[in-house]
Amino acid sequence: MVPTDAMSDDKPHSAGSVSHGDTSERVGMEVIRERGLEPEDLREKLIDAIGAEFTTYYYYTNLRMHLAGHEDYKEITEDARLEDRAHFELVAPRVYELGGALPNDIRDFADRASCPDAEVPTPMDDEGGFNTTSLDAEGVLEVLLEAERCAIRTWSEVCDMTRDVDPRTYDMASRILQEEIEHEAWFVELLSMERDGEINPAGHFVRGEPGDAPLSTNRRFNDSA
Ligand SMILES: [Fe+2]
Ligand SMILES: [Fe+2]
Repeated sequence: MVPTDAMSDDKPHSAGSVSHGDTSERVGMEVIRERGLEPEDLREKLIDAIGAEFTTYYYYTNLRMHLAGHEDYKEITEDARLEDRAHFELVAPRVYELGGALPNDIRDFADRASCPDAEVPTPMDDEGGFNTTSLDAEGVLEVLLEAERCAIRTWSEVCDMTRDVDPRTYDMASRILQEEIEHEAWFVELLSMERDGEINPAGHFVRGEPGDAPLSTNRRFNDSA
C-alpha cells in the first residue's frame, strides 16, 4: 500500500531515496552510501576477504595433516581451520545483501583472495606427494602464524571502513577480528616454544568443541553448520 502524503509527513523514515516497491535498489545499500562509503567497494572487499577465509580453510586442512605426531598442534590448527570456514559462512550472506554474488568459478574466487596461499612449505615430489624430508612443525607453524596475521590486517581494514557507517558489517568484521587475534596468539605460543624454546603464553585453552567460533559462528541451521 502506498502511504498517503500525510502518513509520510508523520513518519520521517517512511520514504527515502529508493522508490516504493523498487526491487532494483536496496535501502540497506543506500544508507551506507549516504554515510560516505560506496557499498559496492565494501562488497568487493568482502568477497576478497572471504576468498581468503575459504582458501585458508582448504590450505589449513593440508597444514594440519602435515603436523603428524603433534596432536596438540593438530587440535589447535583444526580450531583455526574450522573457524575460518565459520568466517566465510558468516560473511557470505552479506555479499548478497550488498547486491553482489560469489564468483561462479572457484578459481576466480581463489585468485582474488586477499591473503597469500597458506601452502605446505615444501615442494611436491614427482609422484604428487609432498617431499616431507625437509618438512618440520616449525615450518608449518610459521605458515599458520603469517596467515593469521594477514587475516588480522584484512578484518582490521574492514572494521576501519565500516565503523560508524555500516554497523552490520562492522559487527561481523569485529567478531572475526577477535578470533583472528586469538589465532595469532595460539601460533605465537606454539612457534615460540617449537622453534626458540621460549614460553610466550597465548592466555587461552583449546575450544570446547573443535572450531567452536564463539564470536563469529552463524546461526546453526543443522549439525554440520
Ligand atoms: Fe578467519
Ligand atoms: Fe584465523
